[in-house]
Amino acid sequence: MTIYDIDFAELYRQHLIACNHFNLPPTKWDKKAAKMAENLVGKPSVYNERLLQAINIQANETVFDIGCGPGTLAIPLAQQCQAVYALDYSQGMLDCVARFKQELNLLNLTTFHRAWSENWDDIPQADVVLASRSTLVDDLDDMIDKLCAKAKKRVFLTSVTQRHFLDEGVFTAIEREDIGFPTYIYLLNRLYQKGLQANLNFIETQSGHFQGETFEDLLASVEFSLGALTEKEKSGLKHFYVQKQANGEPISHGQKKWALIWWELD
Ligand SMILES: C[S@@+](CC[C@H](N)C(=O)[O-])C[C@H]1O[C@@H](n2cnc3c(N)ncnc32)[C@H](O)[C@@H]1O
Repeated sequence: MTIYDIDFAELYRQHLIACNHFNLPPTKWDKKAAKMAENLVGKPSVYNERLLQAINIQANETVFDIGCGPGTLAIPLAQQCQAVYALDYSQGMLDCVARFKQELNLLNLTTFHRAWSENWDDIPQADVVLASRSTLVDDLDDMIDKLCAKAKKRVFLTSVTQRHFLDEGVFTAIEREDIGFPTYIYLLNRLYQKGLQANLNFIETQSGHFQGETFEDLLASVEFSLGALTEKEKSGLKHFYVQKQANGEPISHGQKKWALIWWELD
């Protein structure tokens, strides 16, 4: 067997099944929107800085930002370029974008309330297509086809390098075997199989620690990733939390680095 015998789109699909990836309803993201807007939009961060540097947007260019969230990148980009189309399936996120749009008078910013899996025929092509931290899709091929259909010049994607956002200790505490999310390597290989030799860089982040204040915050964050815990699992998690607090040890969370996958169109 060689690498040419592997269908990376199918392997990715199998991984999603193995990690019990459940389609998060947009309402789950709605609940996170206000906090994300507060923490991410207009706040200096190495991640935003590096990504914006890589995109190197020009004043006469247009951008299509997929899974735009509260406007982390869409807002600074709209301040620098001709037009931004910002898509998200969470109305809560788009409400945040609309608020920034109004406050900053960004008339060149248009939002689309849409999911990755829906029809995008009415969305215009853009010079730059971006999907930042929003590439955990159901179907890699559908994603790649959509990116190619919408991009005129450059495509930028960021994807996970670690299989878990949660502290590895959480899995021991709740006694769950968890394969975690498929990382960027599936996407990179599938792009190659579809004839796209993409560039790969990594963005190191400052994140790494759980930001919540209470056990309930930790539980909410774990259930966001893994779905509802059983009572036994909750009690294991509580024990883990109490011990970490008692020892003054941080709980890790997030991605220490993100894969930046990008390519230019001919
Ligand atoms: C981690 S946030 C990233 C936000 C922003 N791009 C950033 O880098 O800060 C992921 C975003 O993708 C959106 N999202 C998740 N799944 C989606 C889907 N299937 N279709 C459209 N948007 C989706 C979520 O609502 C959320 O706003």
